[in-house]
Amino acid sequence: MNGSSDPVNLYDDDVIRDPWPDYERLRELGPVVWMEALGNYAFTQYDTVRNGLRDHETYISSLGAAADDFGCTHQRGNTVASDQPRHTMLREAILPPLLRDNVATLRPHIQSVADDIVAACVRKGSFEAITDLAQPLPLTVVRDLIGLPDFGRENMLKWASAAFDMQGIQNARGQAARPVIAEMKEFIATGVTPETLKPGSWSHRITEMAAHGEIDPEIVPFSIRDYINPSLDTTISAIGHFIYHAGSNPDTWAKLKEDPSLALNAAHEAIRIGTPIRSFSRHTSKPVEIAGHQIPKGARLMMLYASANRDEAVFAQAGQFNIERRNARRHLAFGAGIHMCAGMHLALLEIECLILAMTQQMPAVQVGKPTIAMNNSICAFAKLPVRIQG
Ligand code: HEM
Repeated sequence: MNGSSDPVNLYDDDVIRDPWPDYERLRELGPVVWMEALGNYAFTQYDTVRNGLRDHETYISSLGAAADDFGCTHQRGNTVASDQPRHTMLREAILPPLLRDNVATLRPHIQSVADDIVAACVRKGSFEAITDLAQPLPLTVVRDLIGLPDFGRENMLKWASAAFDMQGIQNARGQAARPVIAEMKEFIATGVTPETLKPGSWSHRITEMAAHGEIDPEIVPFSIRDYINPSLDTTISAIGHFIYHAGSNPDTWAKLKEDPSLALNAAHEAIRIGTPIRSFSRHTSKPVEIAGHQIPKGARLMMLYASANRDEAVFAQAGQFNIERRNARRHLAFGAGIHMCAGMHLALLEIECLILAMTQQMPAVQVGKPTIAMNNSICAFAKLPVRIQG
């Protein structure tokens, strides 16, 4: 048996600018495709990606979740790049403030910050969706929750973006990320102590637990990175996708005004169609035969979340933005299985609050031509001009 293969480099600039035709072609080639340019396999279709993510014993994370050896080696030991029992220990340390019920208590505060951010855009009439609207909510709310001292607060976005570049391959973006990540690690090693952190913040809680012997002090830097790296760019990307697609589909605005209870489904649909993280990887713990491929032990497999979320076998007219899509919440943008996103409830709440604020305060919006953000892993707009109508 011979499985299919493909020469495209998913980290080429042209692919990053518009990956959707390549994903469609890869899905047509089969559920598993050998990516010649990367030396990795890719899981391309919804069922294969979901089943692979759920089978954490065959498809392991402890050899790294990036797309090349350097990125994988750099990540080892992180929550996202660990297997049980280490994974359980790391995840349990960071999870309590991110649990659905705890996040729900933040709703009044997040809604009030969202209302103010949107009001400032309304006063301007025309605004830049990413810097004026998508970034300020996570940068205000999440940075306060994490509670780093000033140098950390100011650099979080830069560090997170670099971490997602290194999550891909060592192209120019991956290489440029190295000193930036070294700076972050140095900051965490020297600047993060109970005295420098905001009392009551997530990071403060972690250092206090270590000081009281409730967690192994060795995991503190990993926990802090868990809060810094995935908490900003992902949500900012999703908000950008919502604004772009809602602005390009005028009936969306009217539907949300008429029925605000659609806001959460609209948040999921924006996350599905945009898929903020294009892919993470796994490695095989044993030889696997799948879709005509004899995959050896230790091979790297890219889980193409973004391709899975456009699989027509699951999402009819997958390229269309439809906030009433009945199965929008089945998307794999948060992953699946034991590594499923730890921060999804917070991200969804932030996006939902912004959607409610926007659709209540803005009669409708018109979007201009977006500029794509060039990042190895994050699928996002760098710029998106918006004009408020009415
Ligand atoms: C729309 C926003 C977000 C998206 C699309 C997203 C996506 C993801 C994905 C795909 C994974 C799974 C990685 C894997 O399968 O290996 C993940 C894991 C994770 N996410 Fe998120 N994320 C978002 C927001 C957040 C936020 C706001 C936080 C923190 C405050 C966060 C923290 C984490 C952590 C700690 C993990 C590692 C979980 C583990 O390995 O057990 N994420 N995220």
